Amino acid sequence: MATIRDVARYANVSTATVSRVMNRNGYADAETSRRVKEAIEQLDYRPNDVARSLFKGRSGMIALLVPDITNPFFPELARAVEDKTNLNGYSFVLCNTDNDVAKQLNYLNALQQKSIDGFIIVSSSLTPDNMQSLQVPAVALDRVISPSMPSVTVNNRSGARQAVDHLKAIGCRRIAHVAGLEYADNAAQRMRGYLDAVKQEDWFDSRYIVSGAYHFNQAQEAVETMLSNNPDIDGIFAGNDMMGAGVLHAAASLGKRIPDDLAVVGFDGIALSETVTPALTTMTQPIYDMGAKAADMLINQIETADSTVMTEEFNVQLAERESTLRKAATNEQ
Ligand code: RIB
Repeated sequence: MATIRDVARYANVSTATVSRVMNRNGYADAETSRRVKEAIEQLDYRPNDVARSLFKGRSGMIALLVPDITNPFFPELARAVEDKTNLNGYSFVLCNTDNDVAKQLNYLNALQQKSIDGFIIVSSSLTPDNMQSLQVPAVALDRVISPSMPSVTVNNRSGARQAVDHLKAIGCRRIAHVAGLEYADNAAQRMRGYLDAVKQEDWFDSRYIVSGAYHFNQAQEAVETMLSNNPDIDGIFAGNDMMGAGVLHAAASLGKRIPDDLAVVGFDGIALSETVTPALTTMTQPIYDMGAKAADMLINQIETADSTVMTEEFNVQLAERESTLRKAATNEQ
């Protein structure tokens, strides 16, 4: 069955233009209208009632809600969503929510009043109940909100385990973890991956876990205290790159050499992880692909009224950099 995207491709116009010609709202010149109508006829395109109702009075607009635009991870994610939505003829709106439930619900309600076509949401505070009242399609990105909501995430738990196994492989004997937001499901998954790798070790102790809440300053302060109290720690897995940078600063303030006294691995793969000194080894998330995939999933829901709950889990990749490049042990040492 032909979709509106097939019609748009055939007529060489955006889906928003097809919508305008179909609903006769907004401008489309005679030639464009002719091409669209020809495409509809040639492809025998018949929008079903739900798809048509979704298009009646739609705005051609998609919104992305993120919890913290000051964290470089989210602008990188937003770039991908904006590119993909614009390519498909939608305008794009970015909303910063501070993970505040009232603020998120206000955005969701206000934009639905403006006939928003759909939402892509990064949130660790909205609940499945909050999503029940949503009248338009939505996709959860980066963090799962509800099992009945399409989502795009990464292999947080196995990726975290891989990070700790890398620290073990380069000779670390006491490995700590700086955890992200305690109520963010992906932070909890990364902590589980750390525990999978260390809980059988005779040296493991809960004092080797501190919270950095995904923030640089909180991580730096927590790690300075932890390293001062536990000088035997020689490896740290940080649950995101901003906290990884905080670990590097904490080590410098204590006179610890990276990586020989302390090796560090982060998580995300934001550009900052390459520009800090020493460059941070990290588990890189395919940030652009995640954003693009979420946009594709949402647009498919909007245009075909396909309500299949799709989930996509990407794999993170280890990017080895200076913060773990220890000189290979030699016989003389
Ligand atoms: O750095 C921000 C963190 O929050 C990232 O790890 C990303 O996964 C998001 O959840």
